[in-house]
Amino acid sequence: MVSPSQHEPIARSSAAVEARGIGRVFQAKGGPVTALQGIDLRIEPGELFGVLGPNGAGKSTLIKILSTLLLPTSGTASIFGLNVATETERVRRIMNIVAGGDFSGYGLLTVREQLAMFAQFYGMPYREGMRRVDGQLEAFGIADIGDRKISALSTGQRQKLNFARSFLNDPWILFLDEPTIGLDVSAARDVRSRIRAFQAEVPGRTVLLTTHYMAEADELCDRIAIVDHGRILAQGTPAELKRMVQREALFIVGLDEIPPSTPLETLRRLPGVVSIAVRDAADAGNDISGVASPMVRLAIGLRDDASLAGVITALAGAGAHLREITKSEPTLEEVFVQLVGRGIAESDAEARP
Ligand SMILES: Nc1ncnc2c1ncn2[C@@H]1O[C@H](COP(=O)(O)OP(=O)(O)OP(=O)(O)O)[C@@H](O)[C@H]1O
Ligand SMILES: [Mg+2]
Repeated sequence: MVSPSQHEPIARSSAAVEARGIGRVFQAKGGPVTALQGIDLRIEPGELFGVLGPNGAGKSTLIKILSTLLLPTSGTASIFGLNVATETERVRRIMNIVAGGDFSGYGLLTVREQLAMFAQFYGMPYREGMRRVDGQLEAFGIADIGDRKISALSTGQRQKLNFARSFLNDPWILFLDEPTIGLDVSAARDVRSRIRAFQAEVPGRTVLLTTHYMAEADELCDRIAIVDHGRILAQGTPAELKRMVQREALFIVGLDEIPPSTPLETLRRLPGVVSIAVRDAADAGNDISGVASPMVRLAIGLRDDASLAGVITALAGAGAHLREITKSEPTLEEVFVQLVGRGIAESDAEARP
């Protein structure tokens, strides 16, 4: 098996992933289980796309179908124009997959032997293969454990090995099912930065990952699909998704006190002001001479960012001392709760990074 990417540039003419009406029903003991119902998805070459959803949402099932490990019961999907159900061999050459918590490999081999074996599987000539193996060991910071047996690796080391393996065949698209699950904060950060570096090396390289870590999806992904019960509830860039829950701009403005001559009712009548409320009164902070001084924080909802100027001018004109101004961004968690009707943490008890 030879990776075509060693010979051809990544085809830009077709979508990296094109799925139409993907459904999957499992025949289980207690009756049929519908894991996916009508998934439509289009991912462009070069995107880092995240599928976010609670346990049982259908994330792994979707990844298995797109990576040819499982057939859909309805619908069609293609990877760079290749049909996942009928052109499986060709799809497999241009993709790779890492599933979190996977124990791929043979315990008795060393890390280096294991990767060398995969390089052979992927059809690489020996020297080229070993060159890549050493390059990946280096890139993932596991060169020092190259001679250690797989059975003696920690979870984090094993996951880095899985990643190193998945990069060996130079895939056009990488499927990552919960890539950082079980990793500590620093190992998870390493893995995320390798994913970014992998994409930066060759334009068009595409990543589809599943996660239920909100912060990971928010930080890493160009676009996100939120799934639950086998359906996509919403998709877009993190910023687009956040805009769904908050239409007005929300600013937090800290002042020493609300000027008596300008009560909140006056501020509320200013153009573009949707709402104003006292958020908290605290002795947060010291003044310039180091003396603790009280502060009032106002939560100001505005039709748009530009309306802030009028509010600030009014406050300053009334003699208020402005201490801080921050824009409050909604979180993906809020988007998720609004769409799914519950927090992601409520449906799983996994440790978070
Ligand atoms: N082989 C199978 N046989 C029967 N039911 C299955 C099978 N695989 C998955 N399912 C069911 O399909 C649904 C979706 O499962 P899937 O593994 O895709 O969810 P997930 O989003 O990956 O969840 P998690 O966050 O727990 O990994 C679940 O209800 C699951 O029980
Ligand atoms: Mg899963």
